[in-house]
Amino acid sequence: MTQTQDAAVHSTKLSEDTLNRLFRQERTHNVWLPKRVPSEVLREAYELARWGPTSANSSPARFVFLESAAAKARLLPALAPLNVEKTKAAPVTAIVAWDTEFHEKLPKLFPRADMRSYFLGKPALIEETAFRNSSLQGGYFIIAARAVGLDCGPMSGFDAAKVNAEFFPDGKWKANFLCNLGYGDHSKLFPRSPRFEFEEACRVL
Ligand SMILES: Cc1cc2nc3c(=O)[nH]c(=O)nc-3n(C[C@H](O)[C@H](O)[C@H](O)COP(=O)(O)O)c2cc1C
Repeated sequence: MTQTQDAAVHSTKLSEDTLNRLFRQERTHNVWLPKRVPSEVLREAYELARWGPTSANSSPARFVFLESAAAKARLLPALAPLNVEKTKAAPVTAIVAWDTEFHEKLPKLFPRADMRSYFLGKPALIEETAFRNSSLQGGYFIIAARAVGLDCGPMSGFDAAKVNAEFFPDGKWKANFLCNLGYGDHSKLFPRSPRFEFEEACRVL
């Protein structure tokens, strides 16, 4: 990289305050304040998250936001016991799902090449691609939700078969993970667990 390119990269670095807000200070929340999340805020988070990259722009994630007590009640039997109370208390719980027919939308999402036929009739490739990219999109959504002022509590402790049977009986969408959303009680956080140092988790070859 030339010095000019180097300077250009550095001039676009976000402020330390923003980096702290998005990464260093943000926490996974388990205790929720009784404060409603306006639907516009969910929309704002989605409309940021959707710009994150996916393979062939496939965007296989689908988001189902459970807000009403009735919708939440349908989810509770599928949850691991430790996730029940916090999910009941969370203003919104998102099911981050993936569309088994995402490739049908590729003519719209990736018009410059015929990627639909690349996936057609290949269920293993469809599942691998959709699971990988919907997980990425779920991650983008968490960061986007934080950026618009929400707290998140992602969860994989649930029975996906039960969630799929209850919410996606036609089998077209499948649950990847769940994410509680709202405004967390910062006084009830667990102590922060450590993360790996660069040297422990990364190799530069
Ligand atoms: C995909 C995913 C699944 C998780 N599943 C659960 C879960 O089922 N129950 C739970 O209490 N926490 C769950 N967590 C929360 C993690 O334990 C937590 O994000 C991690 O310890 C980091 O905490 P911190 O963000 O406060 O540093 C999950 C997190 C992710 C990203």
